[in-house]
Amino acid sequence: MTIAVFGATGHLGALTIRSLLAREVDPHCIVALGRNSAKLAPYAELGVEQRIADFDAPDTITTALAGVDTVVLVSSNDLEHRQRQHHTVISAAANTGVQRIVYTSVLRADTTTLAVVPDHLVAERELRESGIDYTILRNGWYTENYEGLFQEAVEKGTVSAALTGARISSARRADYAEAAAVVASTPGHDRAVYELGGDQAWTLDDFAAAASTALGRPVAAQYLTDEEEREHLAALGTPAGVIQFASAISVSTRAGDLYDDTHTLSRLIGHPTAELTEVLGQWV
Ligand SMILES: NC(=O)c1ccc[n+]([C@@H]2O[C@H](COP(=O)([O-])OP(=O)(O)OC[C@H]3O[C@@H](n4cnc5c(N)ncnc54)[C@H](OP(=O)(O)O)[C@@H]3O)[C@@H](O)[C@H]2O)c1
Repeated sequence: MTIAVFGATGHLGALTIRSLLAREVDPHCIVALGRNSAKLAPYAELGVEQRIADFDAPDTITTALAGVDTVVLVSSNDLEHRQRQHHTVISAAANTGVQRIVYTSVLRADTTTLAVVPDHLVAERELRESGIDYTILRNGWYTENYEGLFQEAVEKGTVSAALTGARISSARRADYAEAAAVVASTPGHDRAVYELGGDQAWTLDDFAAAASTALGRPVAAQYLTDEEEREHLAALGTPAGVIQFASAISVSTRAGDLYDDTHTLSRLIGHPTAELTEVLGQWV
């Protein structure tokens, strides 16, 4: 069985390939896909085949998927064009005999208020209509998204965000990647839709406490209003578009859109997800 992984030059795709190898999938059965041959080159040392696959060049996708059984489609980071890019991959897969696509979507895509959802809903619908077997991994937020918040703790001894009442079931990318590897390399996941989040649902107070443990000094949580958060991000030099995006995410987070209590992720990977103190400890 050949498993091809998109986004192999990015964080989640690379971790997925590492997880496949850790699960003793034969390296010769893994194909690393990306648009940049120099960034793909290190896979040669692992015995993993590299193929050029540029979402914006459909011919490269068709060629890259020849002989592939399972595709891990890590959603594109090109927010402007990814609806078309995902369509390109799903169509090419249908025409090249791919048997299964594992797609990384977003937590509770059918009800969330997160702004990133429309592209994922389109991809999920296209997968259902494609006739190919599929598994949808509705990933919650990466704990790595909060590296900036941790940096504030390092520099100022505070963590400031508009997160009053919010609980966040984030998990590190490595845990989501392991789930992708499990699903891609084992049977029994056809047409499954998995809602994935970390075992620990943390508050801003919990984050401050974990940062305090990691740094060995006090860290205080500062709960901001939306307006205060936008001012805070602007003072850090954050671009206006990013501030708008981050502010909308805070609103959705307070609405519970990043909270998950299913523990499906830890069940899939067969161990608890990494705790916040452990992850922040690795950032020191
Ligand atoms: N759940 C979350 O918290 C969260 C947060 C951020 C993003 N996401 C989503 O999850 C995905 C994976 O996250 P990540 O951290 O691994 O992202 P990442 O490190 O930015 O990786 C994105 C990958 O997409 C590839 N890509 C972009 N445009 C491409 C194109 N035209 N053709 C082929 N490949 C292309 C990039 O290739 P290059 O190396 O050539 O650029 C890279 O390998 C993101 O793309 C995004 O959709 C989720």
